[in-house]
Amino acid sequence: MSNPSLLILPGDGIGPEVMAEVRKVIDWYGAKRDLAFDVSEDLVGGAAYDAHGTPLADETMAKAQEVDAVLLGAVGGPKYDVLDFSVKPERGLLRLRKEMDLYANLRPAQCFDALADFSSLKTDVVAGLDIMIVRELTSGIYFGEPRGIIEEGNERVGINTQRYTESEIDRVARSAFELAMRRDKKLCSMEKANVMESGVLWREVVTEVAKDYPEVELSHMYADAGAMQLTRWPKQFDVIVTDNLFGDLLSDLAAMLTGSLGMLPSASLGAPMSNGRPKALYEPVHGSAPDIAGQGKANPIACILSFAMALRYSFDQGDEATRLEQAVEKVLADGLRTADLLGEEGKAPVSTSEMGDAIVAALDASL
Ligand code: NAD
Ligand code: IPM
Ligand code: MN
Repeated sequence: MSNPSLLILPGDGIGPEVMAEVRKVIDWYGAKRDLAFDVSEDLVGGAAYDAHGTPLADETMAKAQEVDAVLLGAVGGPKYDVLDFSVKPERGLLRLRKEMDLYANLRPAQCFDALADFSSLKTDVVAGLDIMIVRELTSGIYFGEPRGIIEEGNERVGINTQRYTESEIDRVARSAFELAMRRDKKLCSMEKANVMESGVLWREVVTEVAKDYPEVELSHMYADAGAMQLTRWPKQFDVIVTDNLFGDLLSDLAAMLTGSLGMLPSASLGAPMSNGRPKALYEPVHGSAPDIAGQGKANPIACILSFAMALRYSFDQGDEATRLEQAVEKVLADGLRTADLLGEEGKAPVSTSEMGDAIVAALDASL
């Protein structure tokens, strides 16, 4: 049987730096666990624009459709801010999500014990935290039409449209209920049904889907109140399901509960392929971090944990995913910290590659 295939798209800024550490982990699995991948690498974002004048070449898009999983670093950067909207680096990522139809974006926020003191919230608020945000990823205001900047009278108007069909809400709600069934059987749906019709429909459809999951305790919350509750007492939540824009905001907020944006992985999943596995793209929640790019300061853990999610969701290797997560836990417990995990403490940070090496060493020690 051929090896599972993996397309790696490092992207821009710290993307290539954190991806280099993931490559070490992938190589380790090939060498030590007899789990080799057919890895190919390509350009996305600003790097693709520089080479091809487009943030995602058609050939790269086609490759992404064929492989078992895509792993992406990050896209974007100030150099590209002046570009026309249609060729901005971020459009490359949005095209991948849309054309692969990756509608369910899983963004877990887990607080590792060793970092509980580091969160900007009190330790007892975040210690032991383990929640999962399911963000709808292929619709809503990110993609709704009409959109654009038009002339109206003597001024310009910027337009975006929030739009959800019943079937789009239904399928992401089912993903969230399925996850809740495998976790604590608690799901909170967040929208703004008090001011948005799309929110009213969202609530109705989620309530309807709930009938197929009688064991799951469903609650609804307005997304603004949800943001407040996530900082007040995040452990009240297990799985949260929400739309594309609210999910973007709430997952960055949840990242800080865990200590750093450099810690949060994500999986973007679509419908099952012929082999029964979902179409999938894995990426850290963070961006290209232009402020620290090229300095060896980036935390590679979010990207490494994204590969752990790939092991679990695309390659049926849940035990190996757990092994990798435990290796991360161990290096943190040993006190290793990249700069983002140190704050004002006087300790010397480890570099991006030192963190990657330590995680590989912890994998070795797990054998
Ligand atoms: P960002 O996530 O890149 O950075 C926010 C802050 O978090 C910065 O101070 C950064 O240094 C820090 N940070 C992020 N990841 C880190 C890591 N792994 N280790 C240590 N510190 C880390 O968000 P931004 O500054 O708002 O956006 C920068 C660019 O990235 C923009 O062009 C944006 O569009 C893009 N972006 C891309 C993605 C993606 O590719 N998925 C996600 C978010 C933002
Ligand atoms: C994310 C990012 C993206 C988004 C951008 C880069 C398109 O912020 O993955 O969270 O807004 O979805
Ligand atoms: Mn975001």
